[in-house]
Amino acid sequence: MTKINIPLPSTPYNVYLEEHLLDHFSSYLTTVDDMVIITDSGIPTAYVHTVKEQLNDPLVFTIPAGEESKSLTNYQAIIEEMIAQNIPKSGTVIALGGGVVGDLSGFIASTYMRGISFIQIPTTLLSQIDSSVGGKVAVNSKLAKNAIGTFYQPKAVFIDPIVLNTLEENQLHSGLAEMIKYGLIKEPSIIDILEKDDWRSNLLELIEMSIIVKRDIVLQDEFDQGIRHILNYGHTLGHAIEQHSNYQFLHGEGIAIGMACMARKTPFYQRLVAVLKQFDLPYTLPYPLKELVPYILKDKKVHDKFLHFVLVETLGQAIIKPIPIEKVQEYLEEII
Ligand SMILES: NC(=O)c1ccc[n+]([C@@H]2O[C@H](COP(=O)([O-])OP(=O)(O)OC[C@H]3O[C@@H](n4cnc5c(N)ncnc54)[C@H](O)[C@@H]3O)[C@@H](O)[C@H]2O)c1
Repeated sequence: MTKINIPLPSTPYNVYLEEHLLDHFSSYLTTVDDMVIITDSGIPTAYVHTVKEQLNDPLVFTIPAGEESKSLTNYQAIIEEMIAQNIPKSGTVIALGGGVVGDLSGFIASTYMRGISFIQIPTTLLSQIDSSVGGKVAVNSKLAKNAIGTFYQPKAVFIDPIVLNTLEENQLHSGLAEMIKYGLIKEPSIIDILEKDDWRSNLLELIEMSIIVKRDIVLQDEFDQGIRHILNYGHTLGHAIEQHSNYQFLHGEGIAIGMACMARKTPFYQRLVAVLKQFDLPYTLPYPLKELVPYILKDKKVHDKFLHFVLVETLGQAIIKPIPIEKVQEYLEEII
């Protein structure tokens, strides 16, 4: 068992990482009563049963798989049913799924009765190395992704890499894009491992390395006021591509393009493209820049009329560069 402590002053918690952990995660819980499992229709039912049978008569919500489910409509429907079913303040929300389930469940947990316990059991690579750690929870507005949200740390995160065996290959690759990001912004040895033919035999180690990169950045800036922005490398363009495509591009695919665009004029561009290609990830802009700029200007990284771009010029070292919003298109045209 690998235990990664996240020692946030307000809410310290552990990430538990082990093969087959799903079968016995409840041995780490202090209670199995008043549990609410939120999952989605794409999660194999065997996982839902495995989790359910370790708890005392939990309430289970299954939302349709897909980004559209991260909605105010689902938020309200689930909260109303939790009230109807008398889930008490001492209850716990368990997110069993990928980032969509995790973000929605966390937002529900953070607001139900002004906050109840929250546990993450992430089942996609992306959610195991990224969204389940760090406390960002949200739903989408019709106009902007993650526009309605808060920070709410889980009580614990249980990661079982075995569940990734049932994940579609493009979803696995989408998670690998975030892993490559950690390599670019902080830990180039992640990329060294991914470039090897037998990278998959190091998956557990890669997950641990990725969580540690994220942990160390979140510990410096829990509420995303400064250094945490570097985790958004490639995300400004990536989010715009995801939204403009109406989520036909997966999160990691958008990020892959975003990173490749931001790295276009760096010495490591060819190496980055090679590793993205290795995992069938896209790396060229699918739309003209001017179609993406309106989404970019709605980005949460706009502060005081400046957009804060994340740049990596030397592998492993990210910097933040504020650009006045009226110069954003010009700036991007220059670097891409
Ligand atoms: N909160 C954060 O810090 C943070 C960070 C990054 C991304 N996100 C969010 O995460 C979301 C994307 O998450 P995602 O990439 O995990 O996608 P997802 O949650 O949509 O899951 C992808 C698909 O995989 C299926 N699936 C999940 N686990 C499976 C398994 N083990 N076997 C088979 N199928 C499985 C799901 O049903 C779904 O169809 C986006 O909404 C993004 O904004 C949040």
